[in-house]
Amino acid sequence: MTVPVIAIDGPSASGKGTVAALVASRLGFHYLDSGALYRLTALYARLDEIELDDEEALAEAALTLPVEFRDSQVWLAGEDVSEEIRAEVIGMGASKIAALPAVRAALLERQRAFRQAPGLVTDGRDMGSVVFPDATLKIFLTASAEERADRRYKQLINKGESANLQQILDDIEARDARDAARPVAPLRQEPDAKRLDTTELTVDQAVETVLGWYQSLV
Ligand code: C5P
Repeated sequence: MTVPVIAIDGPSASGKGTVAALVASRLGFHYLDSGALYRLTALYARLDEIELDDEEALAEAALTLPVEFRDSQVWLAGEDVSEEIRAEVIGMGASKIAALPAVRAALLERQRAFRQAPGLVTDGRDMGSVVFPDATLKIFLTASAEERADRRYKQLINKGESANLQQILDDIEARDARDAARPVAPLRQEPDAKRLDTTELTVDQAVETVLGWYQSLV
């Protein structure tokens, strides 16, 4: 029997990671945050002073990154970098290197290796289209750019950090545009993906919707 996969794709700051992790926990499935792999590659490049257009060196790094997902944290070479990879500059770097075909190819098998029993919930940009085209359930999870900017703004303020709503909105729109316009694995809703617009939904409502769709399939 093939191991079930729930693939949740969508734009940045849509809340797909939060929803995917909760769905995984409710089902007792593994969880893969694929964006973290792109962010880790970007962080590694920064630490190792690899230029963001050096495709060959970046692909090599992506292939061999000493990564671990453990205790809900992300580790690089034994160091907890969960906070570091969330920095905006790393997100922008991730978005740049994610446009390089050799980097995407290097991460492909690494992502597929997370498909293990009893099942996998994963989120990203091309989980349903490229990495797991035979996923049991494909979802395109989104929210308006204004709502996403507002959520990220509140997150930062709650953490005691300074934030500028307009700047966040501009960054989100710039990242959306780059992710959607790139020739390899562009961000878009696949014809066989269900659309989940969370602009007006709570996290719980979004989680229940995904679980309901999944239960109706199995
Ligand atoms: O989802 P997150 O914002 O952490 O992803 C960071 C960047 O990595 C995205 O802007 C996108 O360019 C890239 N990414 C990707 N494909 C994925 C996951 C992330 O291209 N499956």
